[in-house]
Amino acid sequence: MNSEVKHICCIGAGYVGGPTMAVIADRCPHIQVNVVDLNKKRISEWNNSDLSKLPIYEPGLEEIVKRCRGKNLHFSTEIETYISTADMIFISVNTPIKQKGLGAGQTSDLKWIEASARQISKHAKGKTIVVEKSTLPVKTAKVIKDILEGSNREMDPNERKSFSVLSNPEFLAEGTAINDLERPDRVLIGGDNKESIEALAKIYSHWIEPEKILRTNLWSSELSKLTANAFLAQRISSINSVSAICESTGANIKEVAKAIGMDSRIGGKFLKAGPGFGGSCFKKDILNLVYICNFYGLNEVAQYWQKVVDINIWQQNRIAKIVVQKLFGTLSEKKLAILGFTFKANTNDTRESPAISICKDLLDEGCNLAIFDPKVSSKKVEDDLKTKQSKGVKQNDMNFGSWRLSKTIEEAAKDADALLILTDWDLFKNIEWKEIAKLMREPSWLFDTRGITDKETVQSFGINFWSIGDGS
Ligand code: UDX
Ligand code: ADP
Repeated sequence: MNSEVKHICCIGAGYVGGPTMAVIADRCPHIQVNVVDLNKKRISEWNNSDLSKLPIYEPGLEEIVKRCRGKNLHFSTEIETYISTADMIFISVNTPIKQKGLGAGQTSDLKWIEASARQISKHAKGKTIVVEKSTLPVKTAKVIKDILEGSNREMDPNERKSFSVLSNPEFLAEGTAINDLERPDRVLIGGDNKESIEALAKIYSHWIEPEKILRTNLWSSELSKLTANAFLAQRISSINSVSAICESTGANIKEVAKAIGMDSRIGGKFLKAGPGFGGSCFKKDILNLVYICNFYGLNEVAQYWQKVVDINIWQQNRIAKIVVQKLFGTLSEKKLAILGFTFKANTNDTRESPAISICKDLLDEGCNLAIFDPKVSSKKVEDDLKTKQSKGVKQNDMNFGSWRLSKTIEEAAKDADALLILTDWDLFKNIEWKEIAKLMREPSWLFDTRGITDKETVQSFGINFWSIGDGS
């Protein structure tokens, strides 16, 4: 195997591939990094001269792309060309939950992984290290290996290629991706070929301390990724379950979270109650974990992890119900302002956002939603809610609500009966409540599902206040 990597190809220019390759290119100027994708629009957005139009919004990303693009960082649709010139190929393609067939709704659809492996087996030249970067079910490396080796068997022995498969899971969180990549808690490399492992470790060693680069076997690496996300998601479901107890008993979730988080064995991170976790990883990874547990007959273990997802769905449904109850049991003809549609702040990603299910529940109640999010387009909302934006009048008379995107918080709040904060964007922490109160219809309500506003201030302007886990 080559130990000195000079050409990297990354298949998939998404939330993982784009930022990860940008940081590698920035930290390793001696390596040519080619990010390829079959999505022409995405690639042309990565190549846009206006850096504010990159397809992914991540603080710090624009500066890196500005520094490296056209030098040692390239975005292209020429997948075959760059596979054939690479010493190392990262697979960073999408792996959503399967929609149909065996394991539907439970395990990842590996068709994009399989397609990538087939492309690699066909076009790679000589010795190639293949790195799985996408979040994957345990044993996916075997699928990749089987495909690569299978195609080799059909070749003339003199022309056979040599592949080595590594697992190098990504632990970046959206919104802090660049910081997470530049200063990771650890880097995990799983594999069975020492030389390949060291080739990848050498790349990371350009900016990461050696003691943070862990080497494991393939399956430990794959399982660690799923387990890390499952543990994080479990903390959120735990604190969200306690938020409901707080509301019933008169306790306050922020006080409880602080009190338990100060126990150094528990720690204070990931204890913010909210509308439930979203994002492309948590639910998918837990469902993958549940799937493999069932596969190996570990049914009790499967049920244990399934509950983390169940509580997350319950939390979202519960919030929509509370809104209905507080607004006299009916939302028909009422206007509700939705503040925040992304699954968390500092990203333009709406995958699995709790806002989607909450908005759908509210639309079912027949209300008119005015949605404001600093980073989300009407097209994205349309795709997520699976209904078109209304043209100002209610779309139909079937008691199903309507939605429109607002350009400002004020526009959303005008004549609204209630405001719902669903994403923890900083700008929602600094709302001028005095001005907003004047715009709303009385009795007005604020439902703060992220616990980021000040109760006394909001109430002082005559707005009724509900916040997650605030039982006082
Ligand atoms: C997660 C993991 O953090 C990351 O390591 C992995 O590589 C990918 O999945 P991400 O989905 O980008 O990252 O976001 P994260 O910050 O983990 O938040 C996930 C969800 O949990 C968000 O909806 C967020 O709002 C919610 N959350 C997080 C809470 O509700 N409370 C918290 O205390 C923390
Ligand atoms: P992630 O969050 O895991 O990065 P994304 O959906 O943002 O996921 O990005 C995955 C990218 O992979 C998409 O842009 C998609 O077009 C691309 N992709 C999927 N399959 C292939 C393939 N066989 N060849 C090239 N690109 C692919």
